[in-house]
Amino acid sequence: MSKNVLILPGDGIGPEIVTQAQRVLELVNQQDSLGLEFSEAKVGGAAIDADGVPLPAATLEAAHAADAILLGAVGGPKWDTNPDFQIRPEKGLLGIRSNLGLFGNLRPAILYPQLAHASTLKPEVVSGLDILIVRELTGGIYFGQPRGVREKEGGIREGYNTYVYDENEIRRIGRVAFEAAMARDKRLCSVDKANVLEVTVLWREVMEELSKEYPEVELSHMYVDNAAMQLVRAPKQFDVMVTGNMFGDILSDAAAMLTGSIGMLPSASLDVNGKGMYEPCHGSAPDIAGQNLANPLATIISAAMMLRYSFGAGDTAARIEAAVSNVLDQNLRTGDIWSEGMQKVSCTEMGDAVMAALQA
Ligand code: NAI
Ligand code: MG
Repeated sequence: MSKNVLILPGDGIGPEIVTQAQRVLELVNQQDSLGLEFSEAKVGGAAIDADGVPLPAATLEAAHAADAILLGAVGGPKWDTNPDFQIRPEKGLLGIRSNLGLFGNLRPAILYPQLAHASTLKPEVVSGLDILIVRELTGGIYFGQPRGVREKEGGIREGYNTYVYDENEIRRIGRVAFEAAMARDKRLCSVDKANVLEVTVLWREVMEELSKEYPEVELSHMYVDNAAMQLVRAPKQFDVMVTGNMFGDILSDAAAMLTGSIGMLPSASLDVNGKGMYEPCHGSAPDIAGQNLANPLATIISAAMMLRYSFGAGDTAARIEAAVSNVLDQNLRTGDIWSEGMQKVSCTEMGDAVMAALQA
C-alpha cells in the first residue's frame, strides 16, 4: 500500500510549524519503517501569489493522489480583504474538503495536565480532559438547498436555509464516530435536537441502528443545548461526541476553548476510506509569522493523528503524543503556553525537543 503524504505549508506560520511536524514524521518514518513518502504543494495565499488562485489544478491533483495531507494554515492580511471571494485563501481549503469528500471532522480537545492553568475553568474540572468531537463536515444546514434571501408578499424580506441529512450521510459519520469510540473509551454521545427538528429524529434512529453493530460501545443521546451546558459544567463526562455540521461547529469550538491552548489543538478531516487532511485548529497567526515564535505542537499532534487514522500506526502516534507530553514535563513552552517559571523556547527549539524525546 502506498503512503504518500502531501505537505501543504500554506501561509503565515504555516511553513514554520509544518517544517517541525515533517521532521518528526521523517524521524518516526525511519525509526518504525513506516514507508511514508513526502511531496509538497502550494495552497492559499502562497498559491495566489504563485498562480493567481488559492487551489491550483496541480495542488488539487496532488491532493487526489495523496493518501494523507498535512496542512499548516492559510490566510493573512495580504489576501483576506480581496473583494473576490473566489480568490481568498480559505477557498483553497474548502475546495480540497469538498473535492475529496472529507465529511468526517475529528476535533480532539485534550488538556495536558501540565497546562491545566491555561483553561478559564477550574483545574479540577478540566485537568486531564481528553474528549473527541466528531462533526459532519459536508452536509446539513450549511449546504442544504433551497437557500437564500427572498421577498415575501408585501415586500418583507425572508432568509431561509434547509437542514437536511439523508440516512447514508448520517450512517457514514456515525460509523466514523463508533470506530473512534472503539479505539478509545467505548462511550459515544450523539448530540441532536430531536425534540424540535425532524432531521435529527432520523439522526437518532440511525445512530440506534448502527449501535447494534457496535455492541461494545455505550451509546447515549443528548439535546444540543444540554450538551453545551454539560461541556462547560463537567466536560470529563464525555469520551466521543458525534453531531451534525452546525452543532459540531459550535460545540467543537467551545470544547477547544476549554483547553485554553489554541497552539495545542489538532484536527482531522476524513473521507470514506480513511484518507484525510490533518491540520492544527489555529490559523496562520500573521502577528507572529516569520519570527520563529509559533507553537508547532498542534501540527505535530495532527501528524500523529494522521498516523493513527490514515496509516493504522497507532503505536507510533502514541509515541509522538508521549514525546509531546515529555517536553511539557521538561517545562519547555513556546510563548502562547508560557507561564511564570517555565522555559521559553522557539518554534525550532520545541521541534528539537520533540525529536530528542523520540530518540531518547
Ligand atoms: P489565528 O489562530 O491565526 O491567531 C489567533 C491568535 O492565536 C493570534 O494571536 C496568534 O498569534 C495566536 N496563535 C495561533 N496559532 C498559534 C501557534 N501555533 N503558536 C502561537 N500562537 C498562535 O486566528 P486569526 O488571527 O483569527 O486569523 C489569522 C489568519 O488565519 C486569518 O487570515 C484567518 O483567515 C486564518 N485562519 C486560517 C485557518 C486555517 O487555515 N484553517 C483557521 C483560522 C484562521
Ligand atoms: Mg468554527
